[in-house]
Formats: sequence, C-alpha cells, structure tokens
Amino acid sequence: MEEKKGNIFTFHNEIIQREEKQNLLGQKAISIWLTGLSGSGKTSIAKIVERKLHDAGKLVMLLDGDNVRDGLNNNLDFTPEGRKENIRRIAEVNKLFNNCGVITLNCFVSPTKAIRQMAADIIGDSFCEVFIDTPLEVCESRDVKGLYKKARAGTIPNFTGVSAPYEKPEHPDLAIQTADQSPEESAKVLFDYMNQKSQLS
Ligand code: ADX
Repeated sequence: MEEKKGNIFTFHNEIIQREEKQNLLGQKAISIWLTGLSGSGKTSIAKIVERKLHDAGKLVMLLDGDNVRDGLNNNLDFTPEGRKENIRRIAEVNKLFNNCGVITLNCFVSPTKAIRQMAADIIGDSFCEVFIDTPLEVCESRDVKGLYKKARAGTIPNFTGVSAPYEKPEHPDLAIQTADQSPEESAKVLFDYMNQKSQLS
C-alpha cells in the first residue's frame, strides 16, 4: 500500500500481479492504439483482429470512440479539453484491462501527439501506436457515417481533418496504408504484427 500525498485515499497495489494473470490466460496484455481520421478504418480493422484473436483463444477488449462516448464518456465534447479527458479516461481503462491480463484494441482518433503521448505515459510499456494512414480524401469519399458532409456544411464543429487538426504520428510502431487494401488485408498486417510483438502463437 502506498499513500498519495494530498489525497484522502489510499492506493492499494494489486495482490495478484499482471504476470500471474497473463500466465493464467496464456497471453501478453498489450494495448494496441489505433489512431487515424474518422472513417480511416480503425474500427473495421480492429473488429476483424478481435475475432482472429478470440478464435486463437486470446481474451481481448475492443474500445471504440463511438461506443465509449455513448457511455463512460457521454459528458465529453470534441473540444481539445474534451478530447484530452476522453483519451485520459480510456488510457486508465486500458491500464485496468492490461493489469487483468487482457489485450486491448483501441480505436480513437486521438488527433494530437500530446494526447497520444499522454495515453502512452499512462499505459506504459504495453502501449503500441498504430497509425491507420488513410488520406483525408479517401476518408471523405467513403464518408460511411455521413459526418464529413455535415462537417463541410458547418453542422458539426471541430471536426477532425476539416475544422480541427490531425497530427500524424512521426514514429508509429506500425503504419497501415488502407487506401488500396481491403479491411481484411489491413487486419492481417496488424494481426501479424501483434503475433510477433507478443509471441501469441
Ligand atoms: S477523439 O478525438 O476524442 O479521440 P473519438 O475517437 O473519441 O475522438 O471519437 C471520434 C468519433 O466521433 C468519429 O469517428 C466520429 O464518428 C465521431 N465524431 C463526432 N464529432 C466529431 C468531431 N468533431 N471530430 C471527430 N470525430 C467526431
């Protein structure tokens, strides 16, 4: 147990460590952090990888911007402060899952280097940055959710890539160019990377 100065709570260290839980599950709990524009393919790719991992006997949690913002983070907006708090909470949730031995797949725009660095700092060594590198024109032409059209019309403020910035990662652990690939092909690239990273097979 360790007391945090200035706080009126006491932090309890886990009695059963992450290693023991990983051993129980037979896996290494890594956090795959997919960053990219809205419509870049983050969630489509992650869903395929989640299925492949599950079928390979791995316990995995997929966290996605639309879903998390519907529940845990439904009080947050898309201002820089709202996005920062969104990512901070998600990174803390990641740490909890990882401490329980669970692999996480995260699909968040996470548009700035500072926000992603914050997530990396909270999550620690298990953080792997994966850039879903889909050009804005491609995301906009797909416009699966119809949001780019609304953003261009000015109905959605602070829309990433249109009226809010997206800073590309400079040195991601992995970058996947999706423009000329099917989601299955992109997912295979990520799955192979994860296998190599955590010796899953
Ligand atoms: S983040 O910037 O805080 O990381 P997050 O990944 O949670 O964003 O949510 C992004 C998703 O919210 C998008 O895929 C899109 O469906 C929706 N969305 C709604 N408004 C915006 C906006 N202003 N900018 C980006 N995405 C938005």
